[in-house]
Amino acid sequence: MDTSGKVITCKAAIAWEPGKPLSIEEVEVAPPKSHEVRVKIIATGICGTDDHVLSGSFPNVHYPVIPGHEGAGIVESIGKGVTCVKPGDKVIPLCLPQCGECESCLRSNTNCCLKTHLCAPQNLMPDKTSRFICKGKQIHHFLWISTFSEYTVMPDSTVVKIDEAAPLDKVCLFGCGFSTGYGAALNTAQVTPGSTCAIFGLGGVGLSVVMGCKAAGASQIIGIDINKDKFVKAEEVGATECLNPHDYEKPIQDVLMEKTGHGVDYAFEVVGCLDTLTAALASCHRGCGVCVMVGVPPSGSPLSFDPMLLFTGRTLKGSFIGGWKMKDSIPQLVSSYLEGKFKPDVLISHTLPFSKISEAFALVHAGKSIRIILVF
Ligand code: APR
Ligand code: ZN
Ligand code: ZN
Repeated sequence: MDTSGKVITCKAAIAWEPGKPLSIEEVEVAPPKSHEVRVKIIATGICGTDDHVLSGSFPNVHYPVIPGHEGAGIVESIGKGVTCVKPGDKVIPLCLPQCGECESCLRSNTNCCLKTHLCAPQNLMPDKTSRFICKGKQIHHFLWISTFSEYTVMPDSTVVKIDEAAPLDKVCLFGCGFSTGYGAALNTAQVTPGSTCAIFGLGGVGLSVVMGCKAAGASQIIGIDINKDKFVKAEEVGATECLNPHDYEKPIQDVLMEKTGHGVDYAFEVVGCLDTLTAALASCHRGCGVCVMVGVPPSGSPLSFDPMLLFTGRTLKGSFIGGWKMKDSIPQLVSSYLEGKFKPDVLISHTLPFSKISEAFALVHAGKSIRIILVF
């Protein structure tokens, strides 16, 4: 049946208000307007950021909202003026746009497109209206892509075509988690061969940092997590050893200093906490260590640490979706995946039907999952 130009009714998971669980509802999804694309989502991962949306701690979200930002699907129809994709194409929605026109997109040294939600709201389409209606109410978009819906509409700056051979229930991880972690090591830190790395937080993103450090040729890769169940996977993907801060009387940064002699060359914060950020910075070599902030920090909380930590030459830098310009890079990452260059599949601990999204979040909260993929 040709659905183009028509409203599609399908299932979606809605967060009606912060602090409440998701509920699966029937939503009406309007056709795409000019420079918009309607995508049938085939698979979506669950990322820590989606959980922040449920709890209400993610900035600039308007409720009710359909979360989800780590998906992969097939183009159902396109609006006027869309040239980058056509119906039937396999695509990945981009949680960070690459509009190709703004000051940042025109620079080679940043991926922070000025259309990101951190610069301008993405709760509605660019024309300030929603394409989702449920029970007569307008539902907000999330990061313009809302992948917790079987059909979703997004601007053409936030979608990219990928190789036809790509398995969508695996490559959805390129939409956020894998790209964020892997790129933090390769693009942001630019980890060098033979170096020493420490990764704080061994969730899906932290494990992707471990893979990036290994790919870059680091010789010592130390994983740190308070949940020792995460160590097996970390060692499988490249950690040379793992430490639990709770096993030591002294602060973990002192343990790392002693273990490495002068501190690590690169430390990555992949939890999203200020305490672990300070510990990661203090674990770095005092003269030339680089600390990369990967986890989303609590917005608006002041960060306080002894400035002497920086004075002697350490660097503290942020990494936004691994530093990738997403439209340019995601298709290449998918192709490298198909060539067998890396295996983000190992991050997938569960694959569940979309209808089990609440059970999936319960597994996330219990610390019993790495990445959960929901399939429609
Ligand atoms: N020290 C070390 N590890 C910790 C600590 C701590 N103090 N507190 C929590 N952790 C560990 C958890 O046990 C878990 O294994 O950090 C890991 C975080 O993993 P996930 O919750 O699976 O998060 P992930 O999806 O990997 O994302 C990490 O990046 O994208 C952002 O919003 C996301 O800020 C989050 C971060
Ligand atoms: Zn994410
Ligand atoms: Zn831009």
